[in-house]
Amino acid sequence: MSLAPHYLITTPVPEPGPSLMAASGAVTVLPSAPDHETLRQLCASGDFDVVLTQLRDVVDADLLAKARIKGVSNFAVGFNNIDVAAATRHGVLVGNTPGVLTDATADVAMALVLATARRVVEGDRMVRDGRFTGWEPELLLGRDVSGAVLGLAGFGRIARATARRALGFGMEVLFAPRPPGDRPVADDELGEFAGRVRQVPWDELMARSDYLSLHVPLVESTRHLVERNVLRRMKPEAVLVNTTRGPVVDERALVEALRAGEIAGAGLDVYEDEPRLAPGLAELPNTVLLPHVGSATVSVRREMSRLSALNAIAIAEDRVPPHLVNPEAMR
Ligand code: GLV
Repeated sequence: MSLAPHYLITTPVPEPGPSLMAASGAVTVLPSAPDHETLRQLCASGDFDVVLTQLRDVVDADLLAKARIKGVSNFAVGFNNIDVAAATRHGVLVGNTPGVLTDATADVAMALVLATARRVVEGDRMVRDGRFTGWEPELLLGRDVSGAVLGLAGFGRIARATARRALGFGMEVLFAPRPPGDRPVADDELGEFAGRVRQVPWDELMARSDYLSLHVPLVESTRHLVERNVLRRMKPEAVLVNTTRGPVVDERALVEALRAGEIAGAGLDVYEDEPRLAPGLAELPNTVLLPHVGSATVSVRREMSRLSALNAIAIAEDRVPPHLVNPEAMR
């Protein structure tokens, strides 16, 4: 009989994942995110079969080269914190949690559109600071959302869920299939969106959007997708919304563009070097800044916990995990 698996959870996660894993084997939960060297040593120790990681854990080629683990189960849909090619080379399976956080993340994209359009955070501060002295005809005038153009960079699950919401708000929705150069989305792939959204080239999307919302994964070709020249091509009244990954935007260039009035505002849930912000970003009044909470609802985090545990258990028990990023690593 083989030994029961041993799981390492690098940061406390909600139930039911820890209990599911405890029913399959032994579980060690670290009190908080380990530094890279600690994680490297834990993965190399031979003590653990599968590691349940989160976005702050950098699972790079160096760590994987020495790792004695069967797999990494990421508590996230995105897996840019993991060098998947290196994992595959070393036969380490990688799992993720797609699907369950689509609506929650689209809600945050829409919340950022609404909050920037209607100056929600500025208004909240004004009331709390005692600067609200009564209704005024020109107090905190914002912009209409209905009739405005929402441009979606990418048209995957979360972009589509954002489109659904934006259409409900009377927005005109355009999208560019995963810029900079993905294949066009065929008409018969548009499903419920046929005739309701329009596909345009990336150049046109950046120039026409009143709200440009980013929905591309972070890969080499999308790093700094929104850089100085893109920001210059956007309308001066445009707002940039980012709920994907910070490095998709050149954050320093964004601060300069906001300062110079090249674009009107930004609603951000993610940052280039989390949790640090580019100098000056926090001082700009025309930004709404959230602490990477796209998937942060009670039920979504529960589902992420369940899926990441099911992936981890399957990997430990030599079965195919329900959400496997690198099937080519299966031996
Ligand atoms: C969150 O950012 C995720 O990728 O799940």
